[in-house]
Formats: sequence, C-alpha cells, structure tokens
Amino acid sequence: MFTAAVVTVSDRAFAGIRADASGPIISQMLSQAGYDVVEPVLVPDEEPLIKQALIRLADDRDVALVVTTGGTGFSPRDVTPEATLAVCRRQAEGIPEAMRAASLAITPRAMLSRAAAGIRGQTLIINLPGSPKAAAENLAAVLDTLAHGLQMLRGGTADCAAMP
Ligand code: MTE
Repeated sequence: MFTAAVVTVSDRAFAGIRADASGPIISQMLSQAGYDVVEPVLVPDEEPLIKQALIRLADDRDVALVVTTGGTGFSPRDVTPEATLAVCRRQAEGIPEAMRAASLAITPRAMLSRAAAGIRGQTLIINLPGSPKAAAENLAAVLDTLAHGLQMLRGGTADCAAMP
C-alpha cells in the first residue's frame, strides 16, 4: 500500500471564504483505490508556500504520491505547476498529457489546464485542476496506472510486460 497526500491550493479556501470541495473528493478516490491517505493540506496560491508543503510531504513524510488540486489555470495567481516543477528534478509529462487527452473528450476547456507532474526523490507529484468535477475527471484518467509507476519509483518489482 502506498501513502498519498492531497494538497488543496486555493486562496479562497485558505481564507475560509469557501469550503474545500475538491480535496475530500480526491482523498476519497485515492482511499478507494487502495492508498493510505495522510491528513489533507491547504495552502493559498503562494509559490513559496506550495513549494514548502510539497517538500515537507516528500522529504520529511516520504509520501509516495502527492496530488495537488487548484491553481493550474491562467489566472495571475495560478502558480501550482511552477511550484511543482521547481521542486522536482524529473518531469513526468505523460501523466498531464493523459489527463488532458481524456479531459478534451469531455470539454475543450481541458486545454486550459497547465497541470504538471514530476518526481522529487521517491515522491510522485501530480497537479489537478481546482473544481471538484475537473479534479475528479482528471484523476480518474490516470489513477489506475499510477501504482505501476510508483512501484518502479520505489524500487519494487514492476513488470512492464504484464498487462494492463
Ligand atoms: N478538465 C476536465 N476534465 N473537466 C473540466 O471541467 N475544466 C478546465 C480545465 N480542465 C475542466 C478540466 C478549466 S475551465 C480550467 S480553467 C482548467 O482546468 C484549470 O483549472 P484550475 O484553474 O481550477 O486549476
């Protein structure tokens, strides 16, 4: 069983102006997929604070999978992909490619997500959009495949020849 953490990036949720709707949905999806989900993290759209949260979960907590929600769009304060890539040594571009490909079949606005994914140490970090619908749709597109990647990342026996 891999550990997972959900980081909600939202000025308004952080200020208490609105509830964090996406974080609990993502946590539930991860739990149902067999992940051991640690306590949720909520940060405003501030690049240093997003980076700090990601580094703490990866380096101090050794969480296998960190999923962020929010801050992937074009608003001036949307900086989650920049914070993510700044703390990752290696990118995992196929994951956002797969999320956008699946999402484009649902809405052309999927192209407006700048979500990134990358690897810091033994932690895979994946960005999702902010709305509950968009976050769930994007995660659903890649969730089944992530364990195989995490097995490789964490030195387990990952058989690439085995299907699916
Ligand atoms: N992807 C899916 N599957 N479904 C959606 O409704 N919304 C899009 C996009 N990706 C959407 C989606 C929209 S409208 C935006 S602006 C971007 O995600 C970025 O969202 P964010 O700024 O909340 O991170």
